[in-house]
Amino acid sequence: MGSSSFASYVIQFPLLLFFLVSFSSAANDLPSFSNIIFNLDRDPLTLQYRININQGTPLATVKLVLDFSGKLSAVFCNKGAYTSSSYQPIKCMSPQCSLASKPVTCVSCNGTQTKNSWCHKNACSISTRNPVTRFSGKGELVSDVVYTESIYAFGNEGYIRGPIDLRPISFGCATTSNFLKGLGEGAKGVAGLGRSSRLSLVSQFSAAFPQFRRTFALDLSGLLIYFGGGPYIYSYGTFFGDLSKLFHYAPLLVNPKSKEEYFVDVKSVKIHGKTVPIDKKLLSINKTTGVGGAKIDILKPYTVLETSIYKALIKVHTKWAKGMNVTRVTPVAPFGACYKSSTIPPWTSKPGSVAFIFPKSEWRIVWRDLVSVNNDAVRCLGFVDGGLKPKTSIVIGAHQLGWFMEFDTSRSRWGFLQPESGQQ
Ligand SMILES: *[C@@H]1O[C@H](CO)[C@@H](O)[C@H](O)[C@H]1NC(C)=O
Ligand SMILES: *[C@@H]1O[C@H](CO)[C@@H](O)[C@H](O)[C@H]1NC(C)=O
Ligand SMILES: *[C@@H]1O[C@H](CO)[C@@H](O)[C@H](O)[C@H]1NC(C)=O
Repeated sequence: MGSSSFASYVIQFPLLLFFLVSFSSAANDLPSFSNIIFNLDRDPLTLQYRININQGTPLATVKLVLDFSGKLSAVFCNKGAYTSSSYQPIKCMSPQCSLASKPVTCVSCNGTQTKNSWCHKNACSISTRNPVTRFSGKGELVSDVVYTESIYAFGNEGYIRGPIDLRPISFGCATTSNFLKGLGEGAKGVAGLGRSSRLSLVSQFSAAFPQFRRTFALDLSGLLIYFGGGPYIYSYGTFFGDLSKLFHYAPLLVNPKSKEEYFVDVKSVKIHGKTVPIDKKLLSINKTTGVGGAKIDILKPYTVLETSIYKALIKVHTKWAKGMNVTRVTPVAPFGACYKSSTIPPWTSKPGSVAFIFPKSEWRIVWRDLVSVNNDAVRCLGFVDGGLKPKTSIVIGAHQLGWFMEFDTSRSRWGFLQPESGQQ
């Protein structure tokens, strides 16, 4: 069962024309808005989600892989890869440069560098990081205009998506040729969504629009990303209105050794109400080393667990399956426990399944605990083994994330939906 059947997107697009006419008017002539919205897409091979940003002059769509740990977005620029007449190199002696790079270093175009079409003397020299290969390379800090849109309430006729204006946004230009390695086809770079950096997209958009909260939200079913906070107007089951009214929350923690990432306070894991025995030490972040704890990383297609947690989870799950007369079959890599689909009871008959327990809430992931393989003849427990000494004990990946969630840095909380909300 795909999550898409649970979300029907109500925003109507054809009225866009109305706003295109008034596009050149100043932002304060527009009806009020409280967030901006961009499309997402997903690369079918790497399963990476990408934000589609229209930027530069002339406007061109740039696909950037979402990077929850990214301090700064970065686009591959070398040798004519980034052509826009409106970009501006950011000077090394500027406040933005000191946010991007410590110590500040200035680009000097000499020697072999002059053959390189991308070199601006005295631009801010930065290092750009590829979150997939973990490769850090050289680059420059630049700014260019980004086309922004929002959702406007339109009388009683519903909600329409229309333009706001063009905003300058700073990003890194990667000049090392292997920068795009490991990123899916068509990706031009990475979108930095880090929670602490003042140059992440989240921080830059909240600085650009004073009414915005430092927040982003993902609709992985309708493939949209919002910056600035709600409302998120949807129809969901019998619900119509602002989805954030249905949110449950878990605190977001800061890992002092990895400040950009989104750690959540998982206290325990349950399967059909049974607590999975886990060494509690693995669930807390060691403040000195940064090791341990649980985080959300959308670059991981499936949730990755430290070996002892993984084994314990499989043990409890297969025991439940046995009691339910669910037939186990040969596991399909990378999964460790797989079942014959026809023998699995429908999730609606037995809600619960895998749940992550937070201090004051619990997050039931229900049907997303399983992954269909072999044309749905087989379903596997959708968790993978992360080895014995991973840096982070639980890395919650894209498959388990569900279709809508909000990362609210301004209030240090993660908003999520339960599968059954809106269904009553
Ligand atoms: C070229 O730049 C480097 C620093 O990147 C500097 O050390 C070197 O002296 C420069 N060479 C010339 C000829 O300016
Ligand atoms: C954190 O890790 C260090 C180094 O491994 C260790 O000495 C220390 O006891 C750990 N702290 C806690 C609270 O476990
Ligand atoms: C499983 O099968 C056994 C033997 O056929 C039966 O007694 C039991 O009630 C079944 N359990 C469930 C949960 O269907």
